[in-house]
Amino acid sequence: MRGVVKRFGSQTVLDGINLDIRTGETMVIMGGSGSGKSTMLRLMIGSLTPEEGSIELLGRDICSLNEKRMNEVRKRFGILFQSGALFNSMTIAENVALPIIEHTDLDQDIIDIQVKIKLELVGLLHAADKYPAEISGGMKKRAGLARALALDPQILFYDEPSAGLDPVTSSQIDQLIISLSRKLGVTSVVVTHEMDSAFTIADRIAMLDRGRMLRVEPLEWYRELRDSPPQEAASRPEGERLIRQFLRGEAEGPLTERQETRAYEEALFGVGTTVTQTPSLQPTRS
Ligand SMILES: Nc1ncnc2c1ncn2[C@@H]1O[C@H](COP(=O)(O)OP(=O)(O)O)[C@@H](O)[C@H]1O
Ligand SMILES: [Mg+2]
Repeated sequence: MRGVVKRFGSQTVLDGINLDIRTGETMVIMGGSGSGKSTMLRLMIGSLTPEEGSIELLGRDICSLNEKRMNEVRKRFGILFQSGALFNSMTIAENVALPIIEHTDLDQDIIDIQVKIKLELVGLLHAADKYPAEISGGMKKRAGLARALALDPQILFYDEPSAGLDPVTSSQIDQLIISLSRKLGVTSVVVTHEMDSAFTIADRIAMLDRGRMLRVEPLEWYRELRDSPPQEAASRPEGERLIRQFLRGEAEGPLTERQETRAYEEALFGVGTTVTQTPSLQPTRS
């Protein structure tokens, strides 16, 4: 992404985003609720177009592609949506087969083998003939992932892959993301606000705050910042102290000062104009 600006009406949701994602890496896009993470993802997969800037995906400038060419690019990446987005009237195996039937003219027995391979990869071969209503939330995520893998994508996009899952299931999904990245060599782009998950799976983390990209750094950089002693941290620039507070889920720091300042401004000038600008970086605890 180069200089990407996205607006909805008068609201600027992304403001000059630059981001490079390297082949084979796991890039985590992290930030509080409403910071623009899902919007970034939807721009990357071509389901939204930016008002300014450019986006290149798999060597193509996706903002200038027509629908037909964009569909060619779509076959080369997979997406795991928040809900898993399975068709309830179809079995898990049928759900996974669907993109293969839609986008290829392979024989049914070849498709069956493909489906079994994908289900095996996510540990769901035993549930092939079950319907979505018959399986747990974690299994639905796995099934959604198997379907995202159906066409052997080069890139996998995940939007909050562990949302709504219990901690154990959610760390199983993290392990699955890691193992798919290793086994298949895919590039993974993961949107999450969950710190534990980010620290488990990321090679690099892009930190988004209210539509702006604060930092893009290797995981080690964030680990070092999180664990830095308070005196040393106090001398760091505000952006870094803000990230540190977010990483540590602390109640006091630049994040909360920002909130308090605004509460004061609101008391002075009246609520209404600033109330929609709630800070998107909210400390999360695991
Ligand atoms: N289709 C849309 N129309 C209008 N506003 C939107 C739309 N999608 C997202 N937004 C707004 O953009 C901001 C960022 O949303 P989103 O990218 O979903 O954040 P995140 O995924 O980080 O929680 C929010 O204020 C949200 O209300
Ligand atoms: Mg989101």
